[in-house]
Amino acid sequence: MSVVRIAPSILSADFARLADEIAMLEAGGADWVHVDVMDGRFVPNLTFGAKVIETVRRLTELPMDVHLMVVEPERYFDDFVDAGASGLTIHAEVSPHLNRQLARIRELGAAAGVALNPSTSLTAVENVLDDLDLLLVMTVNPGFGGQQFIPHSLEKIGRARRMLDAAGSRAVLEVDGGINRETIYQCWRAGADAFVAGNAVFSADDPRAEIGALRAQCADRA
Ligand code: DX5
Ligand code: ZN
Repeated sequence: MSVVRIAPSILSADFARLADEIAMLEAGGADWVHVDVMDGRFVPNLTFGAKVIETVRRLTELPMDVHLMVVEPERYFDDFVDAGASGLTIHAEVSPHLNRQLARIRELGAAAGVALNPSTSLTAVENVLDDLDLLLVMTVNPGFGGQQFIPHSLEKIGRARRMLDAAGSRAVLEVDGGINRETIYQCWRAGADAFVAGNAVFSADDPRAEIGALRAQCADRA
């Protein structure tokens, strides 16, 4: 049985109250803080840079799972790790030298992840499994919080699980986009073990309790 990790995305947080929001995530038992970096080029939206990562790092000791939705992600590796990122996940679609890029992330002491858009095949990572600490299967097209989970992702998650197991990989299998109480259960059943949740946590009536409610779905139901 693998460990379940809940990674709330601060994309949906109220930045006027960021310290309170992070404290709430800790109190709710979040495992990681997911930070969505967008550059307005790979995705049609702009978000944060090193300064925000540094700020979050001052507010918590939780591992910071940084999702780089940017072209030429290697330009930011040093600064983001210096700022306190624990893991950097880059998109295969804009990373033509994955072996080199993943090796560099690990050299800096961070966990190395690759993300795949919904339309990107798993074959994009089949030759770098030895260099991978995390595989992120996107369950929406990245760019915005609050989108609808794409149902055929489940089949891909199942194939990703089998691919990692067959290779003897210990990489974490993460999903991101449209995760809520129902879809987290489906993804967990399909073999995912880390779950990003933005809207589901921050728009809940009781965001702190929602983290536990999401985690509770990752158990066999009668
Ligand atoms: C999507 C981001 C996600 C997003 C998830 O582009 O990578 O991390 O914030 O948000 P929800 O859970 O609201 O779909
Ligand atoms: Zn993300």
